Amino acid sequence: MKDYKNKDITVHWLPELCTHPGTCLRLLPEVFSLGSRPWINVDGSTPEKIMRAIDECPSGALRYSLPEGSSVDPNEACGVGNLAFKKPSEEPVKIKVIKNGPLLIDGNVILIDSAGEIIKEDCKMALCSCGRSKNPPFCDGTHRHPK
Ligand code: SF4
Ligand code: FES
Repeated sequence: MKDYKNKDITVHWLPELCTHPGTCLRLLPEVFSLGSRPWINVDGSTPEKIMRAIDECPSGALRYSLPEGSSVDPNEACGVGNLAFKKPSEEPVKIKVIKNGPLLIDGNVILIDSAGEIIKEDCKMALCSCGRSKNPPFCDGTHRHPK
C-alpha cells in the first residue's frame, strides 16, 4: 500500500487491486492524474471532495483515513472508501456482474483460497471473471486488453 498525505487526509493506494475503469480520473482529475508524478496530488482539492471521489472507487484500490490532528469533520469521513469502513452486517452482499469485466462485490465478505486461508476481508472488491488477471482472484484490468 502506498500513502499520499497532507495534514488533513491520507490517501491509501493499493495498485494491485485497481481495475482501471478510471472513475477517480474522471471524477477528480485535479487530484488523480496519470500524467502527473506522483499521480495522486492530495493538495489538488479539498479532503471532502477527495473522500467522495474515493467512495466511488469500485475496486477498493483507493482508500482514505484521517491523520491525527486532521481538521476534517470525522462525520464526513465515514464513507465506504474509509480504510476502516464496515457495512452493517445485516445488509445482504451485492455482486454486480460487469459485462466482459470483473464481479464487483459490495458488502462484507471473507475471501478464502483453495487451501482455506483467508485472502482478504473487505466490503469492496473486484474479482476477475475473465481468468487473465495477473493478480487473481482480483481483477487487475487485463480484461480491457485484447487477447
Ligand atoms: S479502480 Fe479505483 S483506483 Fe482504479 S481507476 Fe478505478 S477509481 Fe481509480
Ligand atoms: S475480469 Fe478484469 S482481469 Fe479478469
